[in-house]
Amino acid sequence: MIEWADRVSIDLSLQQIPRNKRSIEKIHADENADLLICLKERLEFYPVGKKEPFFFHPNSAAFRTKRPLQNDPLIAISGLKRGDSFLDCTLGLASDSLVASQWVGSSGKVIGCESHPVLAYVIEQGLKRYTGMPHLDEAMNRIVVVSSDAVSFLKKLESNSFDVIYMDPMFTEKITEASNFIPLRGSADYGQLTEQWVAEARRVARKTVVLKAHFRSEDFERFGFARRVRPNTKFHYGVISNTSK
Ligand SMILES: C[S@@+](CC[C@H](N)C(=O)[O-])C[C@H]1O[C@@H](n2cnc3c(N)ncnc32)[C@H](O)[C@@H]1O
Repeated sequence: MIEWADRVSIDLSLQQIPRNKRSIEKIHADENADLLICLKERLEFYPVGKKEPFFFHPNSAAFRTKRPLQNDPLIAISGLKRGDSFLDCTLGLASDSLVASQWVGSSGKVIGCESHPVLAYVIEQGLKRYTGMPHLDEAMNRIVVVSSDAVSFLKKLESNSFDVIYMDPMFTEKITEASNFIPLRGSADYGQLTEQWVAEARRVARKTVVLKAHFRSEDFERFGFARRVRPNTKFHYGVISNTSK
């Protein structure tokens, strides 16, 4: 664990301090800094003022990957096929990327972009180390995490170099059931979609650009996504099809 903590502090250029059995509240008070705790099995991120940690776990991918994947709304709406490449511009907990990765299989490719560097690191390490769901091991290992803002990353990519490009920015509306993200309220990137982001995604996508947003969001219409209404759900998907470009 100490070796791992050494590695983490070098990778992220963070100061390493011994816990000395202190509570999270006490360390927050002593250090006045966000905390990344190295435990035997995982990293836990506690932004200042938060008592609940953010850590990697398969989240909704745990149950979604036990159902027929072709019926999963993200898979059905995106037109993603086995062997395809999938770029997730807003990795978060990587649940959507995991579903896509399980579906595209060993001949496919999944890259997830996350602009919050600590979050990107926690998820990258989690995808490598998590052992609780063996049926997802390969899918987890396949996901390449890129710690970067999505637009800067898209700009470096060749045109038509990914089959599907996906974005799921933070909702600005409060969503009660999105409890896995509660520790990140205030630290995650709340940046919203821009013309430039959508234009870059359209340039790089071969098949589709997919947006997930709150059902009240006007971004679908504002940026030209065909909205797929999902009755009784708090979020909708929208799609821009690039197949005729
Ligand atoms: C709603 S969450 C995504 C959840 C994700 N789809 C999942 O399945 O767990 C949005 C995430 O995208 C990140 N994010 C927001 N804007 C971004 C951007 N421009 N580039 C990269 N990451 C971004 C946020 O920090 C946050 O972690």
